[in-house]
Amino acid sequence: MPNTEPSANRPAPRVVVAGARGRLGRRFCEIAAQNRWPIQGTVRRRGTTPGGRSGPPAVAAEGIIPSVDPDGLAALLREADLYVSAVPGPVERELLPQVAEAGIPAVVAGTGLEASDAGWIARIADRIPFVWEPNFSIGMNWLAGRFLRGRLPPGFDRGIVEVHHRGKADRPSGSARSLAHALGPTDGDSPGTRRPAEPPAEVASLRIEGVAGVHQVWLTGAGEMIRIEHVVLDRDVFARGMFLAASALWEQADPTPGRRSLADLWPWLGGSP
Ligand SMILES: NC(=O)c1ccc[n+]([C@@H]2O[C@H](COP(=O)([O-])OP(=O)(O)OC[C@H]3O[C@@H](n4cnc5c(N)ncnc54)[C@H](OP(=O)(O)O)[C@@H]3O)[C@@H](O)[C@H]2O)c1
Repeated sequence: MPNTEPSANRPAPRVVVAGARGRLGRRFCEIAAQNRWPIQGTVRRRGTTPGGRSGPPAVAAEGIIPSVDPDGLAALLREADLYVSAVPGPVERELLPQVAEAGIPAVVAGTGLEASDAGWIARIADRIPFVWEPNFSIGMNWLAGRFLRGRLPPGFDRGIVEVHHRGKADRPSGSARSLAHALGPTDGDSPGTRRPAEPPAEVASLRIEGVAGVHQVWLTGAGEMIRIEHVVLDRDVFARGMFLAASALWEQADPTPGRRSLADLWPWLGGSP
């Protein structure tokens, strides 16, 4: 199991967690509590009360840790060092600008945004350091950020198949988009390897119960094929990756605004994979 212990160079950050009652946010809170990170407060959906559907995580128990709706976020951030969020991506349109206004570093997991969201996200990047990964698994980040950036064999085509449970809201997955981008014709790391007229990588999505996340990269040449597969065996990989990203961002202690990838933070994650 990967080490989720943060290094002890700085005192643990006071963290505000959005989506702390959801599957991902709840698990993040549990890992943060195991590592003695103080949860300064949590953000819940407007119109709901503290507690709720299946009860709050132990670390965010009612009466012990403040729970606010998005209108209360700015006040909560005044006493916080870090914002960590596991709400659906579109909800960040309301939350993340408040975090930028407060000047707090952020680690964000939500997916499902549109290409038209790029403008406001770029403005956030001008104001605070933040990590926003569509997939916080270490293996997927290595695959998309390092492994697939190399040159394809001559004459090869590529495509992506992604499989998730029926409850997944976005299609294709954010990770499939990242993989397609890594394999795209505009890949700056491998100039000249693909013709400008080359079509983007095709992505196929399947929604079927019980699958936490499967991504396959198909590379096909004349009479041969390479297939690379990443399978999530345990949904905990996402919460652990989020915690590692939050720890790394905190240990980096660099107030320079800008978006960091998980791969950018490898040195603070204990070296390169
Ligand atoms: N990047 C990654 O590695 C990764 C991994 C897994 C999932 N995800 C993404 O993370 C997001 C959450 O996933 P999940 O499985 O944890 O979902 P979930 O179990 O449905 O939880 C969603 C959480 O978002 C909160 N929320 C929803 N709408 C809100 C609003 N308008 N204002 C404030 N809070 C709101 C909910 O708050 P209430 O409890 O108050 O209703 C809930 O706590 C999704 O976009 C998912 O695709 C990303």
